[in-house]
Amino acid sequence: MSASGTFISFEGIDGSGKSTQARLLADHLRDQGHDVILTREPGGSPGAEEIRALVLQGDPDRWSAETELLLFTAARRDHMERLILPAVEAGKIVICDRFADSTRMYQGLSRGDLRATVDQLHTMMIGREPDLTILIDMDPATGLARAKGRQGVEERFEDFGADMQVKMRTGFLALAEEYADRFRTINGARDVDTVAHDVVAAVTSHLAHR
Ligand code: ADP
Ligand code: TYD
Repeated sequence: MSASGTFISFEGIDGSGKSTQARLLADHLRDQGHDVILTREPGGSPGAEEIRALVLQGDPDRWSAETELLLFTAARRDHMERLILPAVEAGKIVICDRFADSTRMYQGLSRGDLRATVDQLHTMMIGREPDLTILIDMDPATGLARAKGRQGVEERFEDFGADMQVKMRTGFLALAEEYADRFRTINGARDVDTVAHDVVAAVTSHLAHR
């Protein structure tokens, strides 16, 4: 935990409701008088948003697993240097829609076992975890249906399909056990307001105990 602000990430499979819940949490905390930065990965800074287009658009096999890992890490490093760390050091609450746990899952597990490489690169180039990670957990079939309903151009990962979603869900639940001190798992298969209530409870508890 830094001396000043707080860094919160949202994780989960595509379509689980992370973006919706991150936005509602930001609104709630602002209403409470907190200075909040709502951001996302890949992206969040101008340079990282350019990398976002490279990694999310095009054929699923556009990049090798290793090249893709380097691109996500480069984007994250820029986002950390230019937005996240300055904001946290200024005492703000930074809410990030996905962070390094997504790399542990998507690059670490999806095409062979690259998890050790992901962790080494993280230690070398990022070197920091969120203070609190909210995992929005839900059934992959529902998540995929929700995500497909959006119909955009950023479908490189969604094109990997249902099997990958199942693997990711299991992987995220295992990560929540591995990093139990910072993870809070919330059932996302309920209506938006009920999920949001649990998110606020988890974050309020964290802020009260820092
Ligand atoms: P993610 O960021 O995890 O991909 P989103 O927040 O973008 O998920 O939500 C995906 C889709 O599902 C959106 O169309 C959103 O409006 C809808 N959605 C989000 N949360 C819920 C919920 N609790 N119940 C039903 N639909 C939801
Ligand atoms: P996102 O825009 O959060 O998609 P969604 O709203 O559908 O959850 O993220 C886009 C994709 O990027 C998502 O499929 C997961 C992938 N991703 C990685 O593969 N590695 C990473 O490090 C990050 C941050 C995201």
